[in-house]
Amino acid sequence: MSKKVLVTRIIPNIAEDLLKQAGLAVTVWPGDKSMTKEELVQHAQKVNALLSLSSNKLDRPFFETCKHLDIVSQFAVGFDNIDVGAATDFKIPVCNTPDVLSAATADVAFGLLIAVSRKMFYNHKLILQGEWKQFEPLKNLGFELTGKTLGIFGLGRIGSIMAQRCKGAYGMNVIYHNRSRNAYAEKETGAQYVDFDTLLRESDILSVHSALTPQTKGLFDKHVFSKMKKTSVFINTARGGIHNETDLIEALQNQTIWGAGLDVTNPEPMLANNPLLDMPNVAVLPHIGSATLEARTGMARLAAENIISFYQNGKPITIVNPDVLS
Ligand code: DGY
Repeated sequence: MSKKVLVTRIIPNIAEDLLKQAGLAVTVWPGDKSMTKEELVQHAQKVNALLSLSSNKLDRPFFETCKHLDIVSQFAVGFDNIDVGAATDFKIPVCNTPDVLSAATADVAFGLLIAVSRKMFYNHKLILQGEWKQFEPLKNLGFELTGKTLGIFGLGRIGSIMAQRCKGAYGMNVIYHNRSRNAYAEKETGAQYVDFDTLLRESDILSVHSALTPQTKGLFDKHVFSKMKKTSVFINTARGGIHNETDLIEALQNQTIWGAGLDVTNPEPMLANNPLLDMPNVAVLPHIGSATLEARTGMARLAAENIISFYQNGKPITIVNPDVLS
């Protein structure tokens, strides 16, 4: 009997097509809403493999109930919604979709940087409010990016592309901080490794590209913002949980830092009355980093191929807990 796969939300058709071509029986959860926890547990019990989204919370109780699963393949590069330790305890491979969305996500970070430095979202709002009256020689001035220092927190695939974009367009000097040095990315981007405090002290733009982990959760707080330049811009396109949003609002209101560009917020979704949305030096997007046709198609393809490769060769392509295979 063919193995059964549950896809927890409608994603690009390529996933279902590939899974079916490989002889797997596929159920795609219909509709435009995430499955509830109860729906997820109930339906996951009837299948062998799960193609999940980052909106599905796959915690230890989930894996205790669904320890029969052969594999969880996530349609996202981030997997902080999954208790990988619990999956590993039950010998369940967990896969993600790196690379295919890196350029798209870096573009959003780069776009936010330009939008913030020239107060674009705010100026757009002024037009909508009928406030474009005349040429203003002294109002709403931004700053230029040429020659500035870009600090990358988490120089991986997405951070490296952001570094290349900023170097190529504006000749920026790039520094970075990671848990451990990334020699390959240093060679690719010319980025220079610095300790965390130096990153905070020297960055004109600090762009976050790391995973959300117990070590990075809430890391960018009051204390950290106070060590950054008063003229600096904080960009986060990784996970909202990495910054403390109350502290960020305060840091912007007190002019501890100059501006912020967010594609991820804490919590998500952001409420329409969030003060960040009214600040001239802030640009916020609703977590659209990977929202291009190319990236989402690539994610759907890779998420499906991980399951197929697991069933055909015993080895998925991009696995985050490879220990389970040994
Ligand atoms: C990712 O792939 O991690 C994106 O942020 C969507 O969750």
